[in-house]
Amino acid sequence: MEFNELRVADLLHGADYNPEQWLDRPDILAKDIELMKEAHCNVVSIGMFSWSMLEPEEGVYQFEWLESVINNLFDHGIYTILSTPSGARPPWLAQKYPEVLRVEKNRVRNLFGLRHNHCYTSPIYRDKVAQINGELAKRFANHPGVILWHLSNEYGGECHCPLCQEAFRQWLKDKYQTLDALNQAWWTTFWSHRYTSWDQIESPALHGEMMLHGLNLDWYRFVSHQTLDFVKWEKESVKSYNPHLPVTINMMYYFYGINYFDTKDLIDVVSWDSYPVWHKAGTTDLDIGCDTAMMHDLMRSIKNKPFLLMESTPSMTNWQNVAKLKKPGMHMLSSMQAIAHGSNSVQYFQWRKSRGASEKFHGAVIDHYGKSDTRVFREVSELGIRLEQLSPLTKTCNQAQVAILFDWENRWAIDDMQGPRNIGMHYKETVQQHYKALWKLGTSIDFIDMNSDISSYQIVIAPMMYLLRNNFEQKLKAFVEAGGTLVTTYWSGIVNETDLCYLEGTPHGLMDVLGLRSEEIDGLFDGETNSASPTTSSWLTKDKTYTCSQLCDLIIPSTAQTLMTYNEDFYQNKPALTVNSFKEGHAYYIATRFEDDFYDEFYTQLLKETKIYRPLDIPLPEGVIVTYRDGYLFLQNFNHHEVTLSALPTTYQLIDSNQDIYHDFILQPFEVIIIHE
Ligand code: GLA
Ligand code: ZN
Repeated sequence: MEFNELRVADLLHGADYNPEQWLDRPDILAKDIELMKEAHCNVVSIGMFSWSMLEPEEGVYQFEWLESVINNLFDHGIYTILSTPSGARPPWLAQKYPEVLRVEKNRVRNLFGLRHNHCYTSPIYRDKVAQINGELAKRFANHPGVILWHLSNEYGGECHCPLCQEAFRQWLKDKYQTLDALNQAWWTTFWSHRYTSWDQIESPALHGEMMLHGLNLDWYRFVSHQTLDFVKWEKESVKSYNPHLPVTINMMYYFYGINYFDTKDLIDVVSWDSYPVWHKAGTTDLDIGCDTAMMHDLMRSIKNKPFLLMESTPSMTNWQNVAKLKKPGMHMLSSMQAIAHGSNSVQYFQWRKSRGASEKFHGAVIDHYGKSDTRVFREVSELGIRLEQLSPLTKTCNQAQVAILFDWENRWAIDDMQGPRNIGMHYKETVQQHYKALWKLGTSIDFIDMNSDISSYQIVIAPMMYLLRNNFEQKLKAFVEAGGTLVTTYWSGIVNETDLCYLEGTPHGLMDVLGLRSEEIDGLFDGETNSASPTTSSWLTKDKTYTCSQLCDLIIPSTAQTLMTYNEDFYQNKPALTVNSFKEGHAYYIATRFEDDFYDEFYTQLLKETKIYRPLDIPLPEGVIVTYRDGYLFLQNFNHHEVTLSALPTTYQLIDSNQDIYHDFILQPFEVIIIHE
């Protein structure tokens, strides 16, 4: 399989470059190139916010400055990722065509301002974007220095304008065909909501309809669909000039509004912008590292191919509550972590700090000071040198035997459902608890959604699989029948694709696979806990009791074996963890939300039982994580202190230095070493 979609064989290192801010300073533009070389950068992303400098008046294009910048970069061995400018439109466009501005949920149209403030449905906006994109593509799509299209910037948001309402109704007509089908799917007879004409349907609004879960869910789907339809529109506008030049979109941290799995066949390369709050008081860098690792794995899983780290900060992030500096070493660790999880790049926002406007204090490679003798610049260059030695990685990708379900539609439905816990179901956090245990064990993990093919995995973990769609329960059944191991939890198989509750027992379609039926679920207040202990037949440590909270499912086993039981309340001694043998495979049911320690023990045992590959299967110091990318092992120290690797089984040579390491090797704070398996 070809993993690298780009025609550059090296890992990429570079930044968002916004030279249009400095066109009156040729000295600065020249200095930029010099410093990029010094920082071992080989790529920049240009143009995401250049519209008003590219088309200062309607139909008047001035591309000379851009061409000269791209040529100059290329002459110095620096590639360009070229952005389409649709993420922020110039004032003249909004003034002349108000329909391009977004209408909020309250049905009030926004004024010109900010960015990402446009309607994805508006034919005028689409036309204007296609025109400038076409001009850019005509001029640059075959330029030898341009290696990738960066479509717009961080797509997101929703618009409730009349054009979007009409498009939503059309989308519903295509989906349901008849109003009867829609009324049935949304259960509108309740509260006398039956629609008798399509134009009675309105997007959800705080001063209108908000309680119809089927409508809310379809609106989420429509917004995601409409945004991706706009992506498709932009893609077509640039591809016609060179179909071989790949496209990417830069995605955002667990972004809610777009089902990112649906970009799989739409874009050529996945990329995302990562701004973790490292060194945050009250949490650990290990926890922040876990949250970031999961997002990297999610990104890689969309196409099962390497992704790009399109943006990150070399120092601080000015829009966060507190702009913490990355402590010395953290830049190396956070960047190498991305590479370990499958990134083929480390890029920054932005190359040079702006002099004015909203991001003038955001971290950048070049500070206002303008020279290279800064701590940040040194750390960036050190990373650049290291990345140059890791080019063979672009031919590799992480492979996993374990998959975790993180389904966007399930996420939307869970957050909207009213009961059993309106103070928080915590879907993402729950998924992350499972992930964290496996991440600490060094296991490679893919993410899947309900459209994914799961047949190649050995373990599938599907926490809180509330909504079932696309016959996913049948896929799971076939998976277990064929010998797979399924782990699922409370609040699974409750509703169908349009949020209608299943009749005749839950978890729907899986009661035989799991050997049980869920009868009731108890919600717990924040701070309230129960606990559970292993039964005598369990393979968990017998004298261990694990605290549980939030939700306690009361299940009735048929063929399932009980591995743990609750200790308190009227459901004391009822099952809290079960396993069922089904044909060639096994299915576990975790009936409640346990504390982290439970998942550590459960997955340690499960990996042994299922003989899943664990790289460097030795005890590692707390806070040291090993990540495996196709033969390369990345050992990462998330501690603020040094640790000793005392049990290395053999001598290893560090990939990017001539040094050998063996037992009692000391890892410095935030140090990352890379060795071959
Ligand atoms: C986002 C945007 C960038 C910039 C950075 C700052 O990722 O894409 O344009 O605003 O945030 O962190
Ligand atoms: Zn609109």
